[in-house]
Amino acid sequence: GTIAIVNGPNLDLLGVREPAHYGRQTLQSIEEACIEKCRQLGFDCITFQSNSEGDLIDFIHRGLGPDGAPGEFDAIVINPGAYTHYSYAIRDALAAVSLPAVEVHISNVHRREEFRHQSVTAAVCVGQIVGLGSMGYLLAIEALAQRLKEGE
Ligand code: DQA
Repeated sequence: GTIAIVNGPNLDLLGVREPAHYGRQTLQSIEEACIEKCRQLGFDCITFQSNSEGDLIDFIHRGLGPDGAPGEFDAIVINPGAYTHYSYAIRDALAAVSLPAVEVHISNVHRREEFRHQSVTAAVCVGQIVGLGSMGYLLAIEALAQRLKEGE
């Protein structure tokens, strides 16, 4: 099986961007840790980051093959960045491919501005992990890997 790690806008700037909220770890280093975690659990890993909503949606669609055939991945770890709070289009893309997804936020969004407290995407995910830094991605991979193994 394959797990996709999807990161939305501004997450390409991790490491330099607001370190008080997001720490000093770069996206590349987080992605490398995700690839290693997947490998340890016996899964392949595809990573993707984009600042554009449409490109994120096009990538999510790659989880769906033609005529209901399997797509390029079997589960999704997604940090939609600020799109979390208002992108009905990303929510609908996740619902459309209907793969198990876990939403991750590096920062504890509930300790921050009011507009970050709402997620329109979480309701179409299996679960959500917030505030645990980059460890959230690894915990999400563990949860999805277990789920995929149980479904075999
Ligand atoms: C974030 C939280 C969002 O509110 C913010 O817009 C981000 C990052 C996080 O990982 O904590 O870009 O998703």
